[in-house]
Amino acid sequence: RIAYVNGLYQNLSDAAVNVEDRGYQFADGVYEVCEIVGGKMVDFPRHMARLERSLRELRIATPMALTSLKVIMQEVVRRNRISYGIVYLQVTRGVAHRDHGFPSPDVKPSVVVTAKSLNFAKNQAAAERGVKVITTAENRWPRVDIKSVGLLPNVLARQEARDKGAYEAWYVDDKGFVTEGASCNAWIITKDGRVITKSAERGILSGITRAVLVEVLASLQLKLEERNFTPKEAADAAEAFVSSASQIVMPVISIDGNPIGNGKPGPTALRLRQEFHKFAD
Ligand code: PDD
Repeated sequence: RIAYVNGLYQNLSDAAVNVEDRGYQFADGVYEVCEIVGGKMVDFPRHMARLERSLRELRIATPMALTSLKVIMQEVVRRNRISYGIVYLQVTRGVAHRDHGFPSPDVKPSVVVTAKSLNFAKNQAAAERGVKVITTAENRWPRVDIKSVGLLPNVLARQEARDKGAYEAWYVDDKGFVTEGASCNAWIITKDGRVITKSAERGILSGITRAVLVEVLASLQLKLEERNFTPKEAADAAEAFVSSASQIVMPVISIDGNPIGNGKPGPTALRLRQEFHKFAD
């Protein structure tokens, strides 16, 4: 496997950044994950718009023109011969002697790109079985709108889910509302067919998959409510699912051990999964 690191394409096993990279010492960086279908990146422009926003919010310089970044990411996909999978881009504030404040403006951001194949049949089989989620207390910083590489709470939440035999953890805020998953947006569908997901205004990462799904819902004339919901409302829902670039739509069949609907993937979730790529660019 091949990775791109600061201007070089290298074997993944040799690819490395400096030990004083601020990503390593402070999690001072941001990332994006794009799905690859048929060897092409899905929704690249939207991912780049979000990357630029994350960089701007953290006052990290844009490392290069987005057209150059696109060439590099596509090249990593090509060199790894990926037809279906994901490409990962990470930009950190760069290498400097450890000091919390920003380094001098001549320090260049570090850019890393890796990619991996996913097993389409395996993901599809998981979607047809559905997955279990647990809930856990929201303990992340308030700026979860920034796609920062500081993911320790997310790591712990995912592991808590695994330890409990579940696939994902949904965060619940101090008002008792579900915000999102450790690495996905959370959705439910009520028994009368309304599709509910938290507003992207605050408290969640504004998912690219989520944004495309909003368009899919409109085209299918399904009713969308961008509002808060509780784990109880999820347990009483007809269906639930999660969305992200790596899994698109993954049906959820139970929450904290309570079956959702008939405990099987819902027809609307499976339909959205099927329709998604007609709307992605
Ligand atoms: N995760 N919320 C969080 C906290 C996420 O980490 C992600 C994505 C999403 C969904 O965003 P999108 O639809 O743009 O992928 C929501 C990526 C896939 C990851 O960390 O691997």
